[in-house]
Amino acid sequence: MKGLFEPLSDGKLELSNRLVMAPMTRSRAVEDGKVTELTAEYYAQRASAGLIITEGTQPSVRGQGYIWTPGLHSDGQVEAWRAVTGAVHAKGGRIFAQLMHAGRVGHPALYPDGALPLGPSPIASGEQLFTLDGMLDHPEPREMTLDDIAQAVQEFVDAARNAVAAGFDGVELHGANGYLIHQFLTDGSNRRTDAYGGTVQNRIRFGVEVARAVAEAIGPEHVGFRVSPGNDANGVSESDTPELYTALVTALAPLGLAYLHIMETGLRDLTRTLRAAWPGTLILNPHPVSGDIQAGPEDGAEALREGLADAISFARLWLANPDLPERIRAGGPYNEPDPASFYGGDHRGYTDYPLLAV
Ligand SMILES: Cc1cc2nc3c(=O)[nH]c(=O)nc-3n(C[C@H](O)[C@H](O)[C@H](O)COP(=O)(O)O)c2cc1C
Repeated sequence: MKGLFEPLSDGKLELSNRLVMAPMTRSRAVEDGKVTELTAEYYAQRASAGLIITEGTQPSVRGQGYIWTPGLHSDGQVEAWRAVTGAVHAKGGRIFAQLMHAGRVGHPALYPDGALPLGPSPIASGEQLFTLDGMLDHPEPREMTLDDIAQAVQEFVDAARNAVAAGFDGVELHGANGYLIHQFLTDGSNRRTDAYGGTVQNRIRFGVEVARAVAEAIGPEHVGFRVSPGNDANGVSESDTPELYTALVTALAPLGLAYLHIMETGLRDLTRTLRAAWPGTLILNPHPVSGDIQAGPEDGAEALREGLADAISFARLWLANPDLPERIRAGGPYNEPDPASFYGGDHRGYTDYPLLAV
């Protein structure tokens, strides 16, 4: 496990260890998308991570995908996040905000004006979302115009600037799991016939434009990018995964971003290909190689040994174990995560997972 505890210093990121907390939506923000003191406590408890990546955070009103998720598009939201970054920094931690525009995975019930969600093409996800009125179908989104696309890029830029103002060390652009950037990438959700659809080079255009614009605004060393090759979450489907992600990563490479974050779905050979195409730091959220349900510290240490990644992210292990590094050093035991309290609720299943008994 030694490799997991080595500091990382690549001229952009300075991490005290290679254990990264993967982004996790917890749906505990209050009205107007503001995080609370409880959120500050939750992240500060996990400040021993080399890097914390926050829950998906909407860059604009129309970017919201779930109820009770936080935003980074108003002064009040920025102010609320400042308490979180301050608490993490006070404990010596690092924290990036994940900027997530949900695109078609939104709903009129989430927006004050009740308008339709936006997407690259008018194709519904085929999935449902949880609302205060129960489970509702995602509607067919409104096809984005070129002006809508330019505006969405600008929203990412504005939110990234807000993240810096809120004290974050950087932002992660959410290009995974079937949200807006991923919707542009995949031919299942993107049937556009203009410069943003059709060929692989056209489908990667939106994600690359967002990355370039945000990097220019806050500095590339403060920007990470997350992908999930082969993931069909939220109704997306890819017919050309290896070609698509090789092209995307090759186009992102010259931007000099802080890191590429790969959420693996079992395509280990593609991870190796992307590793070769990416000149910078790579964070891997490993898929279990052994047939286990969930990857563990052994899988992470092995990936580092192989040179497949520079740092390893876990989600559920961090959710349930605020003192994860200490537990890994001790060889466990690990608390079990409670899925019933993943999304929404109070401190239970959020800030009350016990520390290792001394
Ligand atoms: C409760 C929960 C919320 C999640 N929310 C997000 C999110 O907001 N953004 C994201 O990129 N991934 C999200 N994920 C995916 C995780 O980051 C991670 O990729 C996945 O859980 C697999 O890693 P693990 O086996 O270590 O849990 C979420 C996962 C969980 C369990």
